[in-house]
Amino acid sequence: MAIDFVKEIERLKKEKNAVIMGHYYQTGDIQDIADYIGDSLALAQMARKTDADIIVLCGVHFMGETAKILCPDKKVLVPDATAGCSLADSCPADEFAKFVAEHPDHKVISYVNTTAAVKALTDVVVTSSNAKQIVESFPADQKLIFGPDHNLGSYINKLTGRNMLLWNGACHVHEKFSVEGIIKLKKEHPGAKVLVHPECPAVVVALADKAGSTAGLLKYALSSDAKEFIVATESGILHEMQKKAPEKVFIPAPPEYSEAKVGCSCNECNYMKQNTLEKVYLALRDEQPEVLIDEELRKKAVLPIDRMLEISAKLGL
Ligand code: 13P
Ligand code: SF4
Repeated sequence: MAIDFVKEIERLKKEKNAVIMGHYYQTGDIQDIADYIGDSLALAQMARKTDADIIVLCGVHFMGETAKILCPDKKVLVPDATAGCSLADSCPADEFAKFVAEHPDHKVISYVNTTAAVKALTDVVVTSSNAKQIVESFPADQKLIFGPDHNLGSYINKLTGRNMLLWNGACHVHEKFSVEGIIKLKKEHPGAKVLVHPECPAVVVALADKAGSTAGLLKYALSSDAKEFIVATESGILHEMQKKAPEKVFIPAPPEYSEAKVGCSCNECNYMKQNTLEKVYLALRDEQPEVLIDEELRKKAVLPIDRMLEISAKLGL
């Protein structure tokens, strides 16, 4: 008989005092069974707060790692341990360590999309929800390194007037939105607001009515008077947008321009989509794959995440 994954997940969650946290880029069925969904900042904040014994982090590996760094006494499970991140991969710790060593007078700001080893080289971690405010919390004359996302770093440099040294990393999903495709969609839907994640290149961000983290884009879409939105970030976020505002129309921005087909919903993160309901069920049942981190590394990596959470709390983020 086929297993009812939703029912089994509910049962195992209660039996094991487990909590399921999911990123907005997860498939709709996973978002629907998650106890909490959010962007990278919210997931870190929720991990810090939960009193569950087990966290099942439905996202990609660095998100599970961040939860484990924050909660060493809890069991942190991920549905698929091979779900990586092209952005985190674009910043190998040994190369980043050399870059940091070449600039000893710089403080290091790292995007949360990094491995624990890169976080251990970092002064403050940021997410797209708090990067601007955290950069501004440094004195104007403090020299800064920002890694690994070059697009987000350039965007923050522009917003703050800083001149941070940027690591040349990128996310393969946000890199490939088509400017021509978005312009064509905008002509077809003249009243639509364009929502863009700042991991996208500057030419795409330039088209935005609102640039922001996934949570920021969601908030804007819900409070805006507009009825239509063109969304240039991973298409998983459309599930929550549509759920919270069923009367509005959310159009995924196309990853490539094509006369024949514009507006396809195929700009998905293949890593995020490796997770399935079955894998969530198996992770809970078998209590693996478990995220484990060397304690020495964890102690170094937790400091910049704690700083981020402290600054964010002070700023009410
Ligand atoms: P946020 O969750 O901070 O919006 O980041 C988007 C992302 O690419 C996560 O992998
Ligand atoms: Fe990494 Fe990009 Fe996927 Fe986010 S969308 S997990 S940054 S590859």
